[in-house]
Amino acid sequence: MADPRRVAILISGRGSNMRALVGQAAGYEVVLVASNKPHAPGLDWARAQGLPTWAWDSKSVDREIFDAALGKAIDEHGAGTIALAGYMRMLSPAFVERFAGRMVNIHPSLLPRYRGLDTHARALAAGDKVSGCTVHLVTAELDAGAILAQTEVPIEPEDAPATLEQRILAAEHLLYPRALGDFVSS
Ligand code: GRF
Repeated sequence: MADPRRVAILISGRGSNMRALVGQAAGYEVVLVASNKPHAPGLDWARAQGLPTWAWDSKSVDREIFDAALGKAIDEHGAGTIALAGYMRMLSPAFVERFAGRMVNIHPSLLPRYRGLDTHARALAAGDKVSGCTVHLVTAELDAGAILAQTEVPIEPEDAPATLEQRILAAEHLLYPRALGDFVSS
């Protein structure tokens, strides 16, 4: 069994949570940054840090084939924990099963409220006074795995989705490294 303190991060985009996980790594080491988008801006940053990266354009690849190749890269780098950080592709049941209990995600709401997309607009539309972010285990059901850690963030009367997103993102960048450090040592 691979060392849980060796972490592979999966991204699809800008990778601000990935940067926070790398920059504040304590109790774990990032051994791979992998993406289903070869031009994800976060990959350039990871390469510039000298981190090992892996990327394959998932657009025209069968999900099982893509996830098998991703799993192989994760194994080859000896990663025992997987941290999803803005990874925008559904994982195959086989992949989820294979890494069950070893894969975490950060989600921009106070789960179980607002699984899925557009969390900030939905929180505003509901008239909520508070939102936040959640680190949770990844299971076959979207955003439904066991909750590991949460941070509450106030919603201001003048908030739009973009301003709320910025406030919550700042909280994500503090929560995720701490929650991952706790998770790998638990
Ligand atoms: C974050 O809001 C995260 O909670 C969600 O996707 C977004 C990723 O942003 N899962 P970034 O790529 O980490 O900047």
